[in-house]
Amino acid sequence: MDRHTLHNEFLRVEVRALGAALNRVVARTPGGDVDLVLGHADDADRAASTYYLGALVGPTANRIAAGRFTLDGVDHQLATNDRGNSLHGGPAGFSTQVWTVAEASSTTLRLTLVWTDPTGGHPGRLTASITYLLDGPNLTHTIQVSTDRPTLASPCLHPYVNLAGSGTIADHVLDVRARHVLFTDGTGIPVGSPVDVTGTPFDLRGGVRLGDVLDADHPQIAAASGLDHAYVLDHTGVLDHTRDPDAVLTHPASGRGLEIWTDQPSLQVFTGAGLHADTPGLFGTPYPDRGGVALEAQGFPNAANRPDFPSTRIEPGLPFTSTTRWTFTGVQQDRTEP
Ligand code: GAL
Repeated sequence: MDRHTLHNEFLRVEVRALGAALNRVVARTPGGDVDLVLGHADDADRAASTYYLGALVGPTANRIAAGRFTLDGVDHQLATNDRGNSLHGGPAGFSTQVWTVAEASSTTLRLTLVWTDPTGGHPGRLTASITYLLDGPNLTHTIQVSTDRPTLASPCLHPYVNLAGSGTIADHVLDVRARHVLFTDGTGIPVGSPVDVTGTPFDLRGGVRLGDVLDADHPQIAAASGLDHAYVLDHTGVLDHTRDPDAVLTHPASGRGLEIWTDQPSLQVFTGAGLHADTPGLFGTPYPDRGGVALEAQGFPNAANRPDFPSTRIEPGLPFTSTTRWTFTGVQQDRTEP
């Protein structure tokens, strides 16, 4: 299978075997079907893309500076693929692999992958899985990675959301429950300690129109042509969907929203600078810049080299495991669905 579809009375969800990618989330509306995430119509376009639309990136999401890290006193050099750094698992990471279906029904899908680094730099033989579960308007995914020797693993799903179905995300409102954010150098590597967002355009608490944030006068926003930053989530690292969500994206014009809960320590928010230069999306042409906002629940960028950040080390018997739950609001229930 190259794709699998989950569906219920609220949503239709397409997952691709290539990159275990969340390729489509479709809501029915009175005006017809609306795609709520960015994807590719064609796996060749996905393979040639550098934007990881919906892909499961790993073994380590985000950047490892210069692709280097030291583990138990041994230096390791990963292949680099982004301005001298290793990004999203490097050139042969999880998102480039064809995953195997281990379990599938109309509302669940579990994909697995056994991975050793084809470029030779990454220690360990990793066994990874992602389980998608669709339950009402809720789409939950759980990622697990185990290893045969101590190594690093901190994967994440990399979906871009656009609740309008087309155009840009400028008129979306984003609320991220985070008092701190990580500022970065010119290559996307965090510098210094987490910065208090209070009184800055980075403060998304309570909800801010994204267009206003992206047009704000701030050197970090100018350097990234928008947001491309890890927010340090205020919560305690436990997924409990009875508490307030970690982030809420809303599109007031359509009345649609997305609430996100995660057990991961940070949420990378990337507002899609440069997307126009990517390979074609679902409808035959590339998406525009700011055509979606990537909301990536993950470990801290470059944690591999920052002992002050939460550790991303795993070892035999101590696997990586993480769950993120999305709840769509304002999506209509279709009572004709069996
Ligand atoms: C993001 C990353 C961006 C950009 C993007 C797609 O996660 O933070 O800098 O690389 O992926 O390539």
